[in-house]
Amino acid sequence: MNDAFTREPSWDPRRFPPAARAPRAVQTVRMLMDPQGYARSLRARLGPVFSLRTHPYRGALVCAADASANRAVLTDHERFTGGDAAALLAPAVGAGSLICTPPPVHLDHRKLLLPSFHGARIAVWAERVRALVGAQLPALLSGGGAPVRPWAQRLTLDVILRVVLGLTDPSRTAAFRQALGPFVATGNLVYLFLPEPLRRDLGPLSPGGRFHRLRGAVLDLTREEIAARRAAPDRTRRDDVLSLLLDARDERGAGLDDAQLLDELTGLVLAGYETTATTIAWTLHLLAHHPAARDDLIADLDAGSDRLLKATVKESGRLRPAVWNAMRTAARDTMLGGRPVPRHAFVAALFPLTHLDPELWPRPDDFRPERHLGADPAPYALTPFGGGVRRCIGVALAQLEIETVLRVVLAAAVPEPAGPREPARLVSVTLVPARGGRIRLRPRTGRT
Ligand code: HEM
Repeated sequence: MNDAFTREPSWDPRRFPPAARAPRAVQTVRMLMDPQGYARSLRARLGPVFSLRTHPYRGALVCAADASANRAVLTDHERFTGGDAAALLAPAVGAGSLICTPPPVHLDHRKLLLPSFHGARIAVWAERVRALVGAQLPALLSGGGAPVRPWAQRLTLDVILRVVLGLTDPSRTAAFRQALGPFVATGNLVYLFLPEPLRRDLGPLSPGGRFHRLRGAVLDLTREEIAARRAAPDRTRRDDVLSLLLDARDERGAGLDDAQLLDELTGLVLAGYETTATTIAWTLHLLAHHPAARDDLIADLDAGSDRLLKATVKESGRLRPAVWNAMRTAARDTMLGGRPVPRHAFVAALFPLTHLDPELWPRPDDFRPERHLGADPAPYALTPFGGGVRRCIGVALAQLEIETVLRVVLAAAVPEPAGPREPARLVSVTLVPARGGRIRLRPRTGRT
């Protein structure tokens, strides 16, 4: 187990914010079954800063669920530190990836990565992303009432492999798809939540053995890409993230070695494709279930405007943010929203709850994109990409992908429900539609 877990203070009701009395196992199951509903009921009973006593936390996960506590956790870096806090994900994304790197190294690495994800640089991918969406559209249109998330995963994986690793050879993309599919499957990621003895590699059939074998396959492929690119004579003319990172240097002239590159690239691929696919699935699913919002958006796009497009993406990120929280640890004993938080405790900016605060968002459960027109939200009322120095670096790429999917799909077809509106389930740290976001697409006559 990572140091952050060994340092974590044990449960002591006098040193933590209030918690429910239910045993840890019960709280864990309720969180997995209905994360937003259960956490919301705790917030209503215990206030906006409360403790969640769930596995794998020995003490408790301190939850911040209003705009002011959200802002403190995301931006007060002296009191709330990132990096180690993502310990849970380290076995998957790599301890050396940006997500898991503590300060001060975090900022050095972030400066090396940021230029590749800058809005202007991402904009050059617009045509290629559009082509990838167009190529996958027939599969979606012929899906007939199928869950949209697997389709979106395929698409966003293609995009991330192209943008981050620069893959153009379909056989390499296929090899990555084959390796990544089973690795990110829910059954495999359960490993992250297992107690230490069950994580050991006890042979190929044990969860630990399987996890490491699957991860090894992904790393081997990535290593091959790094080696091939280092050797490529044309790499300075290429615009993928790997090519840019190979030549990136900090102020002291230092770059990333192969081991660091491997962790950064693995982290980028894993952080970037599931999250974006899930957001695409939620957005199409929500539109299918809200015909007025859907028809307004189609009319607005047909008229050449993107006002409602941007508002729709914001509203989907408010109501169904793909990521469940942003994690930090308390650097010292401190107070949050008038509640005590002990040093080394895990602290979560639980923005999916802040996004449902009726004081910030009237009728919070309604899907109403127009609420974002004209007015900016209150500070830290809407943070689906986290915030502060650890805010998601993939925002521009994610938005490009989501907007492109909506433009291309809605020009060709009208999403309609294919079953009831789905609740959210928690898979690792992602809030996914329980049945994959089922929709049916009715072709738009005369336009396809
Ligand atoms: C809709 C899609 C996405 C969502 C909802 C999302 C959400 C998030 C959130 C909530 C965080 C934590 C921020 C914090 O701790 O304050 C994060 C971090 C991160 N995301 Fe994303 N993300 C998305 C897409 C992407 C993409 C496309 C990439 C890259 C290709 C990416 C790369 C990262 C990285 C590297 C971090 C760690 C940043 C750091 O610690 O400095 N994400 N993301």
